[in-house]
Amino acid sequence: MAESTSSGARPRVFCSWGYPESGLALLRARCDVEAWEGKLPAPPEVTHQRIADGVEGVFAMPPTDRLDEQILESAPRLRAVTGFGVGFDYIDVDAATRHRVAVTNTPGVLVDTTAELAFGLMLAAARRLSEADRYVRSGQWGEYEPGLLWGRDLFGSTLGIVGMGAIGQAVTRRAVAFGMDVIYTSRSRKLDVEGRYGARYASLAEVLAESDFVSVHCALTAETQGLIGAAELGAMRPGAILVNTARGPIVDQPALAAALRDGPLAAAGLDVFEEEPLRPDDPLLTLDNVALAPHIGSATHGTRARMAELAAQGLLDALEGRRPAHLVNPEVWG
Ligand code: DGY
Repeated sequence: MAESTSSGARPRVFCSWGYPESGLALLRARCDVEAWEGKLPAPPEVTHQRIADGVEGVFAMPPTDRLDEQILESAPRLRAVTGFGVGFDYIDVDAATRHRVAVTNTPGVLVDTTAELAFGLMLAAARRLSEADRYVRSGQWGEYEPGLLWGRDLFGSTLGIVGMGAIGQAVTRRAVAFGMDVIYTSRSRKLDVEGRYGARYASLAEVLAESDFVSVHCALTAETQGLIGAAELGAMRPGAILVNTARGPIVDQPALAAALRDGPLAAAGLDVFEEEPLRPDDPLLTLDNVALAPHIGSATHGTRARMAELAAQGLLDALEGRRPAHLVNPEVWG
């Protein structure tokens, strides 16, 4: 696949956002680049139109750019799509493979940044930091109140990891430094992680039943959609805390709101949602015991720049006939 343009012409590339300049510069040096200008990514219809008009490469924004079978089959010249992130649930990868479109992503560079946010949300939920902030701002803080805003300790507690990939492992490292025990479930056992951090492998049911904190780090796939539903939430420890920095649809959101309102959960820390942005009438917004973030897992200056460079390099490699380092659909190559 991905022969370079036979005429030697510079490939046409559409970038659906003004990605960090270090990434765009890599593309501009070798391709004819149109980068969408504006604070928000291009509306999906714009990306779809550029694809239909014959661009060869797309620098796409997950989850905004939804590239399904219909889009990919009306893509006369498309040869490669790179996503600004590690998750690739925004694109129908099987359809991309059928249409000989290489898909690349940005694993690795955002691991520690996302793990830090997961830990931040864990601390925020456990120590009620969003509530504390609202309390101080609202002017309610009068006398020193020793009974105020009691939370939960991380040290001495058990953290359950759902999905022991790179981010799950980075969270595990931090958890051990905080004095937590780690139990995990994953597609495959990670004996090295068990040896290094004393993490214990278990079923999802055991992880949910035995953890004080549960942090979700698996990819969103047909198998993991709705993985944590009402029954799973109901099986968690009374007072447990759920953190999700992976993908919203892995957790049943209405069931989560109910478990936060009526138990057994004490709190949650969420960076991802079933629908983004969160609707203004979402029940989660009425709950004090949830720390919310607007999908900023990888949003630091350094990591965003590294993601842009890695994504751009992947796109360039695919368009110029070199096998990209992070190819989501290796079947398309060779
Ligand atoms: C990722 O890397 O998948 C982030 O969530 C951005 O979509």
